[in-house]
Amino acid sequence: MNATANAISPDDFQKFQEYFYRKTGIRFEDSKRYFVDKRLLERIAATASKDFRNYFAMLRFEASGAEMQELINLMTVNETYFFREDYQFECLVESILPEIVARKKHDGPIRIWTIPSSSGEEAYTIAMCLLERWAAIDQWDVEILSSDIDTNILVQARAGLYSARSVQHVPENYLGKYFRRTAKGFQLDDTLRNAVEFSRVNLQDPAEVRPYQNFDVIFCRNLLIYFDDQSRKRAAETFFDALRPGGFMLLGHSESMSRMSALFKVRKFPEAIVYQRPGGGWV
Ligand SMILES: C[S@@+](CC[C@H](N)C(=O)[O-])C[C@H]1O[C@@H](n2cnc3c(N)ncnc32)[C@H](O)[C@@H]1O
Repeated sequence: MNATANAISPDDFQKFQEYFYRKTGIRFEDSKRYFVDKRLLERIAATASKDFRNYFAMLRFEASGAEMQELINLMTVNETYFFREDYQFECLVESILPEIVARKKHDGPIRIWTIPSSSGEEAYTIAMCLLERWAAIDQWDVEILSSDIDTNILVQARAGLYSARSVQHVPENYLGKYFRRTAKGFQLDDTLRNAVEFSRVNLQDPAEVRPYQNFDVIFCRNLLIYFDDQSRKRAAETFFDALRPGGFMLLGHSESMSRMSALFKVRKFPEAIVYQRPGGGWV
């Protein structure tokens, strides 16, 4: 087949754009045509589909959803690194956790959810910060759950093997303590790997997020930037339901809850601005 026969027409692009948006909350603008077309053509060839129409029908009707997952894995942007926006982790240990434990009326675990996890750096940074910077860590059980829609990136997250670029902001003493240098990169030690439970979750799918409940803190950084207003609003409602009353929510530095939802209170801590689900007499 020649290049023209293979091309994705504006109509096809629009159909795909709508479908992908409905499934993931991510809307690809026309400026992303090259990025999207390239990946679609790659999958059309890999699945030996005749053309876009043929491929798109398979994508929608395949019962296992395997091809949709392949495509999601190709379309997601997984950029992340350890200690990204470190002031938020400072805020967690200096301001948020002290407030949570002061109000907690039971000795059940403190539950933290980080979504999207990408390759795991954020969740493992939280685990390291708790161990190294939070004096009360020995008095509390902490559960750290971390989720992403991309199944390939979750395999990497669980493996805990990182490039020099990914660990460049890890303090030297933590690097020596929690990583082993190997020929393939920096291998995270098992204590930290076991401290985080990873799972595949599509934040835009109500059935998939429903089991995620009773969190004291949620990190959702650098995902809402890929959503439009409607999917952001839906995400805000999901987080509201997933938090315990009084629970806290941290977003990426260029993201804000104010346009999305009036459900949350804005809390200005010395280290960072954080959103809080009202209530919390406590639980
Ligand atoms: C740029 S990374 C952010 C990683 C990390 N939170 C950070 O700030 O460094 C964005 C991640 O969002 C994930 N993602 C995209 N759509 C999603 C969805 N609907 N549900 C869950 N994760 C999603 C992607 O797979 C990707 O790994």
